Amino acid sequence: MLTFYSRILVAYDGSDLSKKALEMAMALAKQDEKIELSVVTVTNPPVATSIGTYGIYNQELINEIRESVEKILQEVKEKLKELPNKTKTVVLEGNPGRLIVDHANQISCDLIVMGSRGLSGLKELFLGSTSHYVVQRANCPVFIVK
Ligand SMILES: Nc1ncnc2c1ncn2[C@@H]1O[C@H](COP(=O)(O)OP(=O)(O)O)[C@@H](O)[C@H]1O
Ligand SMILES: [Mg+2]
Repeated sequence: MLTFYSRILVAYDGSDLSKKALEMAMALAKQDEKIELSVVTVTNPPVATSIGTYGIYNQELINEIRESVEKILQEVKEKLKELPNKTKTVVLEGNPGRLIVDHANQISCDLIVMGSRGLSGLKELFLGSTSHYVVQRANCPVFIVK
């Protein structure tokens, strides 16, 4: 039914729902090996401020975050090997919603698959902040997994 999509972006933050989103996107990709899959993870390193300076990044923390992203993506890469399709993993740094939308535009994907919620734990919200942003700003359909 959805096989006319040719390039799919999965927004992946390691949350259970993003894992489900990856499964869903892989199930779609299995229908046609011409479908390309791009798995995007955005890190949002916190800024540590010290006296008299502004916007100094805590390098140790940044390195820790980068390492944990590498670990997450290693699992994803392992999973993606199941597919004969063209796949890739992408790590971006900054505002997740904005970067997911920008990247979707850049690669001209025709579908974004993501979870309704992520890692924040605000379970009372139906849509998390990132999914809310992406649904509003994306230029292609957004498949929200819940
Ligand atoms: N940093 C991120 N990088 C990639 N995808 C993300 C990121 N944060 C969230 N997502 C995607 O957005 C979905 C919803 O998460 P989000 O809107 O951030 O909810 P919450 O506010 O509960 O954290 C996730 O399941 C995931 O698919
Ligand atoms: Mg989140």
